[in-house]
Amino acid sequence: MKLSAVIPSLEIHCFTILLVTWFSTPVRSEVITLDGGNIDDILNNAGVALVNFYADWCRFSQMLHPIFEEGSNVVREEFPDTKQVVFARVDCDQHSDIAQRYRISKYPTLKLFRNGMMMKREYRGQRSVSAIADFIRQQKVDPVKELQSLEEATSIDRSRRTIIGYFERKDSENYSTFEKVANILRDDCVFLATFGEISKPERFSGDNMIYKPIGESVPDMVYLGSLTNFDLSHAWAQDKCVPLVREITFENGEELTEEGIPFLILFHLKEDHESLERFQQEVARQLISEKGSINFLHADCDKFRHPLLHIQKTPADCPVIAIDSFRHMYVFPEFSDLTVPGKLRQFVLDLHSGKLHREFHHGPDPTDTTPGQEDSRVVQSSPPESSFQKLAPSETRYTFARDRDEL
Ligand SMILES: *[C@@H]1O[C@H](CO)[C@@H](O)[C@H](O)[C@H]1NC(C)=O
Repeated sequence: MKLSAVIPSLEIHCFTILLVTWFSTPVRSEVITLDGGNIDDILNNAGVALVNFYADWCRFSQMLHPIFEEGSNVVREEFPDTKQVVFARVDCDQHSDIAQRYRISKYPTLKLFRNGMMMKREYRGQRSVSAIADFIRQQKVDPVKELQSLEEATSIDRSRRTIIGYFERKDSENYSTFEKVANILRDDCVFLATFGEISKPERFSGDNMIYKPIGESVPDMVYLGSLTNFDLSHAWAQDKCVPLVREITFENGEELTEEGIPFLILFHLKEDHESLERFQQEVARQLISEKGSINFLHADCDKFRHPLLHIQKTPADCPVIAIDSFRHMYVFPEFSDLTVPGKLRQFVLDLHSGKLHREFHHGPDPTDTTPGQEDSRVVQSSPPESSFQKLAPSETRYTFARDRDEL
């Protein structure tokens, strides 16, 4: 195939399934073609935008075009306001910079944006007109449930993370920020709100929002920043609704791999809460700044025996910390070093700098080696292969862009 000529660093899979509806009648396309000049403007001004990242040489990208266009037409009839819903597309061959910016690793990929912000979870449903239209309808459902009394707030389901907002008026900038945040975090938290007289007893110091963590007797946390400051409100709510260290399971594995960043995983026995707590503490202490470049996860040693085997461990060796770069796995040498200040952080930085990979091949770095430079020393061995790569979408489903960096 010619793809290596077109995109030197890309390797490919295409969607081969789920192409249920084929529309042969050409429709007038409402799909906006994005490029470096218009993308920010268009996405920032759309409440919801569904963007098709495609490559022309990918047959499944070609097959999706008419479906996507028809989906756009169906949705437009229901949501005529072009500020509410936008369908757009990016030619990833022509705009590889955009594809990189959004970490596109396979074609076609459908990503959802809200007011310019890319949602972590991409569209994973059927590639059919009705499924795409349904997805957008769901995205347009108001994520905030209005409470009719304060008593309702005392009897909420405490098995889910919940944010409750107390507002004087629904028609206010404060509430509109809250709603925006709720839309973005709709899958991660339950959002409730009360207005007017009902919420008055809770508004002694003005409009506010509180977070109710999981668990009956866990204390609430109050947001202390400005409610009209979207970035601050969003950061606060995200911190509460999305745990820093998430559990990986077979169910969410594919979704987590699609976030496109390597995993730092604690393998622990289910009943071993202590290691998990220590890991969470150290991640929060040492690695907050790396949040966007590595995913912090924990996994049940019994369920994930197979990945453990890759690094020559068994559940009896747990707790074990490892990085899966989607190419290779690297083991954090001593679990007990977890609490040594800076050690865990250095482990992650060594992944990013390529040091972990080099040292695996060549032994400890000599001090004079320029980072990233290949040398002629004999390759002794290779680090264990990635295990979690296998949780990623099946190769028969997509066209994949290959990792740009050999990690
Ligand atoms: C927004 O919330 C702040 C903080 O509670 C409050 O002081 C302000 O009056 C609210 N604005 C409106 C328009 O209700």
